Formats: sequence, C-alpha cells, structure tokens
Amino acid sequence: MYELNLPTAVCVPGSIVEREVIEGYVAARRFLTRTPLRLHLGCGTVLLDGWVNVDVGGTPDLTLDLRYGLPFPDASVDRIHSEHMFEHLRLADGQLLMTEAYRVLRPGGVMRLGMPDLESILGRYSSPDWRDQPWIQDQAFGWVDSRVAFINVSFRGWEHQYLYNESELRLRLGRVGFAQVQRVGWGESSHSDLTGLETRPETDLIVEAVR
Ligand SMILES: C[S@@+](CC[C@H](N)C(=O)[O-])C[C@H]1O[C@@H](n2cnc3c(N)ncnc32)[C@H](O)[C@@H]1O
Repeated sequence: MYELNLPTAVCVPGSIVEREVIEGYVAARRFLTRTPLRLHLGCGTVLLDGWVNVDVGGTPDLTLDLRYGLPFPDASVDRIHSEHMFEHLRLADGQLLMTEAYRVLRPGGVMRLGMPDLESILGRYSSPDWRDQPWIQDQAFGWVDSRVAFINVSFRGWEHQYLYNESELRLRLGRVGFAQVQRVGWGESSHSDLTGLETRPETDLIVEAVR
C-alpha cells in the first residue's frame, strides 16, 4: 500500500470529490505492476497499446477527472503523454496536474505534452491567410467568417480554458520542478516509445519535460 495523495485544495473530507479521488486510487491499483508504466492523459478515443489510457469520459482504461491529481505513488511512472488536453484545464488545474506529473514520474521519466500553440494562433490572426487551416474548412465552422470570429473560437471554442505558448509552458513546468524541458517536432523523439504519438495536425506546440 502507499499513502493517498489527496490534493487538499479540492478534497473536502467526506465530499463527492474525495470519494471520486479514492475510487481513482482503487481503480489505478491494477496498473501498478506494469513495467514500464506509461500514462496517456486525456486520451479521448485514441487508445494506445502499452499505455494506461486515461480520460474523464468515453471508454478509457482508467476513468479519472485529472483536475484531482494522479492516483499513483511517488516515482512510479515512466512516461506521460498528452495531446490536446492541457488547454482544456484552467491554469490552476493545469498546474496541479503538472505538480502531480512531477511527483509520480521516476527520476529520468519523461512527460510529453502536445497542444495548440498560442504563438501560431496569434500569427494566423495577423496573417491574410488566417482561413488556411483544416478545421475552418469543416462545415460546422462555416460561421467563422472573420479573423475576430477565428480568434474567439481559438480561445473559447471546444471548452478551451487556457492556451500556452512555448515560454508559458516552460514557465509553468519550471514552477513545479521540471528543469529540463525541450521543444520537439511532431511525432519525433529521441525516446523510441515517444515517437509517432501525435494524431492531430494542429498539435504544434510539443515539449518533453524530464523529471
Ligand atoms: C480535445 S480532446 C483530445 C482527445 C485526444 N487526446 C485526441 O487528441 O484526440 C480533450 C480530451 O481531454 C479530456 N479531458 C478534459 N478535461 C479533463 C479532465 N478534467 N480529466 C480527464 N480528462 C479530461 C476530454 O474528455 C477529452 O477526451
């Protein structure tokens, strides 16, 4: 057994959140013997072999609300991967999850985060080619007929809560202890089990942070 690491900020004793967190710890137990232990956070419908696919909805391997932390012991996880998930968390929730990632990763463990890049969104906003991106061509976004509509959707659409650029992501990762953060290319990594993971062309800010 290991000690429960209940995030005190969200865990009022006896509350529904506390019960949910404890249930998460119980559900996570079956993965603790995996070697290596790899977590895929906010997996959606992308279920990766060899990874514990985690999401709050759908049919993942492990159902968790990631705002309440990671129900794994300290220094027990080898890899964390997440694509297009952190921008769905408010800054405080994102910082808590980064803190948790740092806690559960083994020394030398790596977290790979991919998300839209605020810098390229702002670049597009200022460019005459702002329409030139695949998602805007989708019929559902036929109403996005101006650059102002485009920038509003980027910030507020898809339940986005907080957009990062590279320096912001480095700042937030650094605040929780990640000293070694490297920007990497789409699908590329010096770690063989972190190559070829991205599925979305619009994932254009990708970093690997080493514990
Ligand atoms: C834009 S989707 C990305 C899904 C997948 N990674 C992909 O690239 O197709 C964001 C995912 O994050 C999940 N998510 C958002 N907030 C979450 C939370 N608090 N806890 C767990 N998952 C969350 C959503 O349920 C959703 O599946």
